[in-house]
Formats: sequence, C-alpha cells, structure tokens
Amino acid sequence: MTGFHLKNNRWYSDGVPLSKVAEKVGTPCYVYSLPAFEARWKEIDQAYKSIPHLVAYSIKTNDNLSVIKTLAKLGSGADVVSGGELFKARKAGVPANKIIFAGVAKTDDEIAYALKEGIRFFNVESIPEIVAINGVAGKLRKIAPIAIRFNPNVDALTHHYISTGKKENKFGVFLGDLDKVMETVRRCQSVHWTGVHAHIGSQMTQTASVGKSARVVEQIVMKLRREGFPIHTVNLGGGYGIDYQGEKPPKPSQYASLVLPVIKRLNATLLLEPGRYISGNSGALLTKVVYVKQSGKKTFYIVDAGMGDLIRPALYEAYHRIAPVEGSQKPAQTVDVVGPICESTDFFAKNRKLPLVNRGDLLVVLSAGAYGSVMGSTYNSRPLAPEVVTRGNRFAIARQRQTREDLVRLEKFVL
Ligand SMILES: Cc1ncc(COP(=O)(O)O)c(C=O)c1O
Repeated sequence: MTGFHLKNNRWYSDGVPLSKVAEKVGTPCYVYSLPAFEARWKEIDQAYKSIPHLVAYSIKTNDNLSVIKTLAKLGSGADVVSGGELFKARKAGVPANKIIFAGVAKTDDEIAYALKEGIRFFNVESIPEIVAINGVAGKLRKIAPIAIRFNPNVDALTHHYISTGKKENKFGVFLGDLDKVMETVRRCQSVHWTGVHAHIGSQMTQTASVGKSARVVEQIVMKLRREGFPIHTVNLGGGYGIDYQGEKPPKPSQYASLVLPVIKRLNATLLLEPGRYISGNSGALLTKVVYVKQSGKKTFYIVDAGMGDLIRPALYEAYHRIAPVEGSQKPAQTVDVVGPICESTDFFAKNRKLPLVNRGDLLVVLSAGAYGSVMGSTYNSRPLAPEVVTRGNRFAIARQRQTREDLVRLEKFVL
C-alpha cells in the first residue's frame, strides 16, 4: 500500500512501520513516501494529458532533494521562488527549461543566475520587476523570457493568510495596470513576453475560483494577442487543496474540466504549479511523548517536536491529524499536544480526543509533507529534524539530523 496508513494498529509509510524509522533515526523526524509523491504528481499530469502542458512542482512546499529528483524523473518541472530553490531544482536534475521563477522580490543577482541557467521563464510580479529583468538581461546580452502574473481579483475562498489573488494582496500586477505593462514591455528590448500567470491561493477546496480565474486569464490573453503580444503559455498556478480534517477537495480531473475548454479555445500550453496537493499527504512528522503533564483539569502531551519543526498550527491555526504510532485502540482523553519551545503558540492540537499515552510513546502528525520541514527553524537552538524517505519496505535518511556542532558552524567569536 502506498503512503501513510494504519495496519493492525500500527502506522506505516508504504511498507515501513513508523516505529522502525523512529528506532533507527530517532525523533523528531520527517518521513516522506516517495510513491505517494509520484502518484499525486501523475494524477495531475493525467488530468491534462489532452493538451500541451507542464506540471511544475512547487518546491517551496517540500524542497528535499530526493523528493525533487523523484518528481524530476517523472518529467516534472519546478516552480521556484529564490536563487536557493533554483539551485536545489538544478541539483536534483530538473532541466532548466522546465523551471519557472516566481516571487515578488527577485534580486538582480537571482535574475542573472536564472538567465545564465536558461530557465523557461520568470513569472513577473510588478512593473519595476520588468524593468529590472530587462536591465540585467541587457547587460548579459540575453533576452529574458517572461510571463506576467496578474492579480485576477478572484477570491480563492481559503484562509486569508494563504489567499493571494485578491486586489489587496501583494502578489501579481493589478489588472487595471494592463496598459502600463504593455507600454513597459514595448520599451524593454531584452524581455520577451509569452505567458500570463495567475495563482489565487492555496488549500482551495472547491473548483469555482479556478474556473473564474481561468476565464479572467482568457480575457487577458485575448486582449494581449490583439495588441500583438505572442502569448502562448497560460500558467494557472497551484492551490489544489487536500484533506487535513475531512475536507473533500476536488480531484485534479474536476479542476481540469473547467480549465481544459479555456486552454483549448486559446490553443495555448498550460503550466501548473501544484505543491501541497503533491506533498501534503505524502509526508508526516514523527515525534515522541516526553512527558504527560496534568495541570488542574488539563492534560498535556508534551512532545519532542515543536513549532520549529512544524509551524503551521502556530502560523495559521492549521489542523493536523495526530495518532499514536502504535496503540490507537486505547481509551481516549481530551488533551493539548504541545512542543518544547518557549512560546504559547507551540502546539500541534488543542482540546483533541487522543488515546492514552505514556512517556516515550510515539505520535505521528499527519499531512505534514507540505510547508513543514521547509519552514523549519532552529529557534531555541534546536537542531533541524532529519528527513527520511520510504519506498516499498525500504527507508533511507535523505537529510541528516542537524548536530549541535552544526548550530554554531557559521559563527565565530569576534570583537
Ligand atoms: C505562485 C505560486 N505558485 C504555486 C504555489 C503552490 O501552491 P499550493 O501549494 O497551494 O499548490 C504557491 C504557493 O503559495 C505560489 O505562491
């Protein structure tokens, strides 16, 4: 069986019992099912097989090199948002012409790096950025391929912290500035404008917003073509939601049924930048109960993972399913699951019914493959957790646990 599942009261990743990983690698520890990553990438790829398209995995969600390489082998591209992510994508074997570079604050240095690598195009987020890219490309005697990210002013109907497509968000170019953008691009001799991009938000659980955004993009592309711009690529970003707590998110094929007619009418190539859909439920965080603490009427399961390992609950009050790695049939009690960090926001669950546990028992925090380890920090001087990958009955450490020595490696005593 692929991915995370419960069998005979034991949690597994693929054919590997999570207790075995903890025994060998220790906790806290991230575990990723590579076959689960592959299955979800293929699901999206299949949904669009009737048109020219590229699924460019959004590596901001999980930039483990083994994960990126696994997807690159299937033919995946990469959506990157920094020079560091571009470096990782190239190192993991993603061909430069399958890499798209987004982000609102690309520096001249990053732009030059991407141009030298020969990426497919920049997703440009503002008029000053067009001018900057033109300047850097001119100096390098290159023509920079660009897509412009427009803000379609469509509500993704998701948490306001991860909604990006409304006019008050910092992302993309305001639609009312379309004429100014055309005028700027016409003046810029070192950019070639061939794509339109829109990404309206993350963790969407309905299809309507995607359909709306596609139709806004269609109007923009038609106008641009009338104005003489050879737009042949439409990038509809990512945002496909997943099941964290019983949501019933649409299947990729359901989004495709709204998107395909638009792209066919435009006779364009479709680009997609899914992240969470591929990585979210393909990873989990393993942790150990350090203490069970009774405080008046409250019970705390204090675990050895914290917000430095998985910040989503602290950042967006995100919900993650939690289960004992073994023994989920025990009687339940209402508890808070909290970490070791000196912040009240350092929690994984509040007032959650969980089976009784003892000091030393293992818990698995599910759906932690996206926006998990990538947001890790060493706050409270706690080394970063290792990352383990599984396939069939095998598992391997893909990223070592940081050591205490690693924590001070870049420092020296000065002045
Ligand atoms: C431009 C862009 N593309 C793709 C993604 C990936 O989104 P998701 O993980 O929801 O698929 C993001 C995430 O915020 C993004 O900003």
